Amino acid sequence: MMLSSVLLVVLQLCSLQLIVVSRPTCRLQGDLVKSAHDLLKDLGGAFPARCLPYNANILFPRSALSFNVANHMQCDQVLSVVNESLWEAGKIFEDPEGPFPATWDEQKVARFQGLQDRIVEGASCLSGSSDVLTPYFSNVTEILKQQESAACGWKALRRDLVRFLKFTLQTHHTCFIWRSAKRL
Ligand SMILES: *[C@@H]1O[C@H](CO)[C@@H](O)[C@H](O)[C@H]1NC(C)=O
Ligand SMILES: *[C@@H]1O[C@H](CO)[C@@H](O)[C@H](O)[C@H]1NC(C)=O
Repeated sequence: MMLSSVLLVVLQLCSLQLIVVSRPTCRLQGDLVKSAHDLLKDLGGAFPARCLPYNANILFPRSALSFNVANHMQCDQVLSVVNESLWEAGKIFEDPEGPFPATWDEQKVARFQGLQDRIVEGASCLSGSSDVLTPYFSNVTEILKQQESAACGWKALRRDLVRFLKFTLQTHHTCFIWRSAKRL
């Protein structure tokens, strides 16, 4: 009896500490990020086989897709990479080297840009910025600059953002604020 109540107190203290340690200081709205993901996904189209050779120059960092609770990636760090991905993608959409693929629905792209702005604004509460994706985005930009590879660059960017946002929303669901019980 004694022992079990001591254990209970210890357990409670432990879980209290876990809550304090893991509580993020800033959260992004999951619903907005999910909608941004859905819009990109809806732009459609499988990654074309003719674009496969460009994969060697468009390597989305594994570290951004493998962080998990086990390696103590805190929500702030996760959200910083989300901010970075949408910020950099926003720059590309805003001021592109060339037009995005003609098959993409302009209205969806415009709605994505609107959401991207809101998400990045909401991220202003984050404490540190991330540069995990800098080499990735500079390579994507190079590929977009060249007329023969531009279409592949857009498709790779869309594919990688969809994959990254989906992974992050699933794996780090609790780093986001959710208005509804929506899940991927
Ligand atoms: C960028 O492209 C170079 C080749 O031009 C490649 O070696 C490097 O791995 C690429 N990096 C990323 C992050 O895609
Ligand atoms: C969001 O990302 C951009 C690009 O990496 C960075 O300049 C900016 O500081 C980031 N915002 C926050 C609040 O970390």
